[in-house]
Amino acid sequence: MAAVSAPGSTLRVGCIGAGKMARGVLGGLLLSGKVPAQQMTVSAPSGTNLQYFRAQGCHTTHSNISVLYESNVIFLATKPHVIPQVLVEISSAVTSDHVIVSMAAGLSLQTLEELLPDGVRILRMCPNLPCVIQQGAVVFSRGSCAGPEEADMLKDLLSACGMCEEVPESYMDIHTGISGSGVAYVYLFAEALVDGAVKMGMPSAIASRIAAQTLLGGAKMILETGDHPAKLRSDVCTPGGTTIHALHELEKGGLRATVMNAVEAATKRARELDKR
Ligand SMILES: NC(=O)c1ccc[n+]([C@@H]2O[C@H](COP(=O)([O-])OP(=O)(O)OC[C@H]3O[C@@H](n4cnc5c(N)ncnc54)[C@H](OP(=O)(O)O)[C@@H]3O)[C@@H](O)[C@H]2O)c1
Repeated sequence: MAAVSAPGSTLRVGCIGAGKMARGVLGGLLLSGKVPAQQMTVSAPSGTNLQYFRAQGCHTTHSNISVLYESNVIFLATKPHVIPQVLVEISSAVTSDHVIVSMAAGLSLQTLEELLPDGVRILRMCPNLPCVIQQGAVVFSRGSCAGPEEADMLKDLLSACGMCEEVPESYMDIHTGISGSGVAYVYLFAEALVDGAVKMGMPSAIASRIAAQTLLGGAKMILETGDHPAKLRSDVCTPGGTTIHALHELEKGGLRATVMNAVEAATKRARELDKR
């Protein structure tokens, strides 16, 4: 894969925070070869998570402001409540050469722009856990000073982490409802499939592998055919067959309404967090 460049200069990627998401996103960039390790600088207060990046050949530091001096594209990957203090810390070192990309859930572009100097190019992204295996579903939005060049650069970079699409910022919380939190619904469904198989006499280890491959295959068919899930589901239903009997049970249990309620609950919760 070709290396990516920052608008106007050679790309040097920094990351403030070195936890799960930092590792997922930067790990994808490293694996894809889009950014060499020597062009990456990562900071965190302790050495615990920095070890991984050091082992990859990245520069590591305990000084957040050093990340700004070493990089032109900087990911913010601390927990959301830490971001305001980080921005106060780095604000004086942010220049028009920097592109800032926040992955913090629930921190709006408006809040980020208020906490940084005027005119800074800021983007906000929303990752999900499978980014750690380069199978993420990532969306991002641009702040008022980030243009198509910054969007193209970020899209190119994040394609190393899975699918990546630019969306209106109002979709960010819905992304949390369907995907950020949605990964957990998928695990719960997988767990229920396994429990059902165990109840019917299949050992859990093989049931777990079959359940996972079933989810993977089903998901790939949605992406590869472009068909609506309703069409694919209907294709599996032989009249009077096993599947329609099972689907009747799922409908009686309210699966569809329950999942819709779950997406709504997580989206609303994300919106509440956004307002804090
Ligand atoms: N995990 C997800 O599925 C997910 C999904 C969507 C969005 N996100 C967003 O991704 C961001 C990171 O989440 P995560 O799950 O990766 O968190 P995490 O694993 O807890 O990692 C947080 C990192 O921030 C570092 N840190 C703490 N205080 C800091 C400071 N003052 N300056 C610099 N670094 C500091 C921690 O340092 P130490 O290494 O020393 O502990 C750690 O490396 C969050 O804002 C979250 O909202 C996560």
